[in-house]
Amino acid sequence: PRTIYLTRHGESDMNVEGRIGGDSDLSYRGKLYATALANYIHQQDIPGLRVWTSWLKRTIQTVATIPAPQERWKALNEIDAGICEEMSYEEIAEKYPEDFTARDQSKFTYRYPRGESYEDLVARLEPVIMELERQGNVLVVSHQAVIRCLLAYFLDKSAVLKQTRCSCSYCCEHSTTLCCKDFMRNELPYLYVPLHTIIKLTPVAYGCKMEHIKLPI
Ligand code: F6P
Repeated sequence: PRTIYLTRHGESDMNVEGRIGGDSDLSYRGKLYATALANYIHQQDIPGLRVWTSWLKRTIQTVATIPAPQERWKALNEIDAGICEEMSYEEIAEKYPEDFTARDQSKFTYRYPRGESYEDLVARLEPVIMELERQGNVLVVSHQAVIRCLLAYFLDKSAVLKQTRCSCSYCCEHSTTLCCKDFMRNELPYLYVPLHTIIKLTPVAYGCKMEHIKLPI
């Protein structure tokens, strides 16, 4: 049985400043996480491990010293916050109060002006999920919103397996790999995905076992 390891990049300069999006470098602590992650992966000695990152510097820097085949996926880039890129949540609330409220009320479907929604992300991640399903052991280093979507897929899998094919109206209309609108609307955008933590997913009967491994740095 194969294992999927999901993690956010190490802390970035923009994380330190409390700003969203952008393409900044790792902070000092972020670099410590990169080292801790490389040590953890080395200790685990995972057969045939492959490493996938986004196109953004902070994910690539996070895996820089891991000696395993690496692939970059643009589809693993963080949610595009459009006109709000590189702003803090406080600045967004001040400059675009209506958008801020709208997102709070409907976080899954809210689309940033000239950017994306969680719903858009789910669609963009379909090819990644298809390919992940065909792989052996993989370490995916990506971003908070993207990892929430990937986790939603793997955690929700038990329902998919039991029903063989989900027939809820949302899934039929959208023909997406992810399923069940209540889970997506109410839980997906709020899943707990802290920095400097590996989420280890191991298949068990009818689903995935999830472990959070916080690396000391
Ligand atoms: O703050 C880090 C970050 O990855 C941002 O780049 C991104 O916009 C945000 O998290 C996504 O989280 P939320 O959907 O909760 O705003």
